[in-house]
Amino acid sequence: MIKTGTINIIVRGLANMAKLNTQPEIKYTQLFINNEFVNSVSSKTFPTINPCTGQKICEVQEGDKADVDIAVKAAQEAFNLGSPWRRLDASKRAKMMVKLADLLKENKDYLSALETLDNGMPYFESEMWVDSIADTLTYYAGWCDKIHGKTIPLDGDYFCYTKLEPVGVCGAIIPWNYPIDMLGWKLGPAIACGNTMVIKPAEQTPLTAIFIGSLIKEAGFPPGVINIIPGYGPTAGAAISEHMDVDKVAFTGSTEVGHLIQQAAGKSNLKRVSLEMGGKSPNIVFADSDVDFAVDEAHEAVFCNVGQCCSAGSRTFVQEGIYDEFVKKSVQKANARVIGDPYVDGTQSGPQIDQEQFDKVLGKIESGKKDGATLSCGGSRHGDKGYFLQSTVFSDVTDDMTIAKEEIFGPVQVILKFKNIEEVIERAHKTHYGLAGAVFTKDIDVAMTVAHSLKAGTVWVNCYNVGGPSIPFGGYKQSGFGRDLGEDSLKEYHEVKTVIIKVPQKNS
Ligand code: NAI
Ligand code: MG
Repeated sequence: MIKTGTINIIVRGLANMAKLNTQPEIKYTQLFINNEFVNSVSSKTFPTINPCTGQKICEVQEGDKADVDIAVKAAQEAFNLGSPWRRLDASKRAKMMVKLADLLKENKDYLSALETLDNGMPYFESEMWVDSIADTLTYYAGWCDKIHGKTIPLDGDYFCYTKLEPVGVCGAIIPWNYPIDMLGWKLGPAIACGNTMVIKPAEQTPLTAIFIGSLIKEAGFPPGVINIIPGYGPTAGAAISEHMDVDKVAFTGSTEVGHLIQQAAGKSNLKRVSLEMGGKSPNIVFADSDVDFAVDEAHEAVFCNVGQCCSAGSRTFVQEGIYDEFVKKSVQKANARVIGDPYVDGTQSGPQIDQEQFDKVLGKIESGKKDGATLSCGGSRHGDKGYFLQSTVFSDVTDDMTIAKEEIFGPVQVILKFKNIEEVIERAHKTHYGLAGAVFTKDIDVAMTVAHSLKAGTVWVNCYNVGGPSIPFGGYKQSGFGRDLGEDSLKEYHEVKTVIIKVPQKNS
């Protein structure tokens, strides 16, 4: 047994070495419209940057309003009644989605290498997200022929049924923190319901989405069903959210832009909107919990994806009896975290996505120092190139400090002290966000009281960031509305049509 295991590890190790340090070839850099790769109308391009070095990877065609107009037209034509897409059986739609999931898995090495190059996340995480998008598409493929209405009793001589119909052209505006996975969160339910799409990847990370265009074509989706327009937010993104012929827009990103998208929908055609934005999620650790386990989980809750995670447990509340021990152990963990080349096995943290985010996080760290929090470790740049930051822990943080109030979106753990459950619940709610939260305790009454009190879309008990394609995810308050994933997300992508038929009743 041991021998076989050892051989397996060596073989796996060699395979990994072959994958690592191979900068992938860039195969596609254009817009994907009507199943073709095309230049933008303006032929303008923009650079995409390797965040590990700050150097340009390549130029990408820059989509703008004119290109969004063309893509929306393509998506509308693909959606017309009688089109190949509308006539496709739901079960065949499911097969197409499964085929796309299979192609994603077949191209896992390439896609992972490309994602790591463009985003900077460790290679093993990119691999995980390729698996994840394939799982999401497979899950939603299962829904294609199960999206159905009801027959409803109605007074009088009538027969009433509802029919769930696709909304139409769905815009998807994708962030840069989990480019592949967020694409799957929008594409899965939209396509399962039979919609067509115009997708805008983030300007920082366009490469994997563009490559996925080639797989969409190979999977057999008819032209115009899924279109991909790389470009900037205020131009290409705004053109989608303001468009009169886009029927729905799904967005993940900043709260600031979420407001703009909602306004654009109001000013244009009242398109349906679902928004998944940031958070300042409380992670509440009671003194009766397993401290080492809670330290590990709280660490991952903050430092995964170098803090660039909407659900990050960015306010770690620790009960007074274990506070000092918790801070000490959290600092040890943060200092031990391996930061560096994301292609190297063992790396846990890559760089921030770009100069803007790097500066923003450093600015928040400065504010923490100025406001009087104790900088327990980190606080500075890591290395001499790219956008790497040290893993940072602040203790003695109070609720009024900027680092306790604003989303940092970086590798900065903020540890606050609390006395009792009533106090911590009240303090946990001192935020306009409501995306997630967690509680660590061995007391079921405490766990359930906190879980049911928190105004948050997801609450984890003795775990953090656990989820999957079948589990709905989204926010309360200004973390957004609508849900990604699970059956609940389907509601964002279909209309309910009611049909009432007069049925003359004859005496038999
Ligand atoms: P952002 O909200 O500007 O970008 C997200 C997406 O929205 C990108 O595709 C971008 O091109 C697009 N966009 C930007 N302006 C737009 C507009 N006017 N109309 C339509 N689309 C537009 O986020 P940004 O500036 O990259 O990051 C700022 C902060 O937002 C981060 O520091 C973090 O706090 C938060 N954020 C939260 C994310 C989440 O997962 N909820 C993801 C990314 C950022
Ligand atoms: Mg922005």
